[in-house]
Amino acid sequence: MLPTEEAGAPQPARLTRPVVLIGFMGAGKTKVGRIAAQYIGCDFVDTDHIVERSAGKSIPQLFAEIGEERFRHLETEAIEHALNTHGGIIALGGGAATREENWQLLRRSGAMTIYLQASPRTILARVADKGTRPLLAGLDRQQMLEKITSLLEQREPWYLRADITLPTDNSLDKYGMADTLVARLKEAGISAAESHRTS
Ligand code: S3P
Repeated sequence: MLPTEEAGAPQPARLTRPVVLIGFMGAGKTKVGRIAAQYIGCDFVDTDHIVERSAGKSIPQLFAEIGEERFRHLETEAIEHALNTHGGIIALGGGAATREENWQLLRRSGAMTIYLQASPRTILARVADKGTRPLLAGLDRQQMLEKITSLLEQREPWYLRADITLPTDNSLDKYGMADTLVARLKEAGISAAESHRTS
């Protein structure tokens, strides 16, 4: 079962159109998305976190126990749940945008999609020491760079389907990236809609 809002809890502020961040692991989807949501005053959710909360297990545990294919089904459920219940900024896991069924959900929801683009070396610098990505587990830095390069090559055509591509290699930090994201959303006419908070 997927997590639901607590009864009586304040409803999060919605955006005039949901915003979905896509891109490779380490592109900054979660960090930048969370900060941008704070700046705008809207809700933020990460589909990896929805999957982890509903399964009661971490992503590496899920990959080890049920395998990637079944993880991808849980991920699709989480995307659907996020689009139905969160009207703010939604970050997808790095592989989510490489599945047609997920793009159908995104299109149906009317979400604006933003690709946070980063080069393999930038990605390596951001993920190498974390050890939380099962697809890169057990690899040394050189092997990781090779895997990132080839996966990114396969995935980029999918990522480039996004409405907007935001290059992040030259961004100073997550706050600067969040500023840029908020500015692009403003240009696109996206802002916090009237909220119906209960408190
Ligand atoms: C994955 C990216 C991860 C997570 C899982 C698989 C991928 O999310 O969904 O480890 O296939 O690229 P992040 O992009 O948030 O690291």
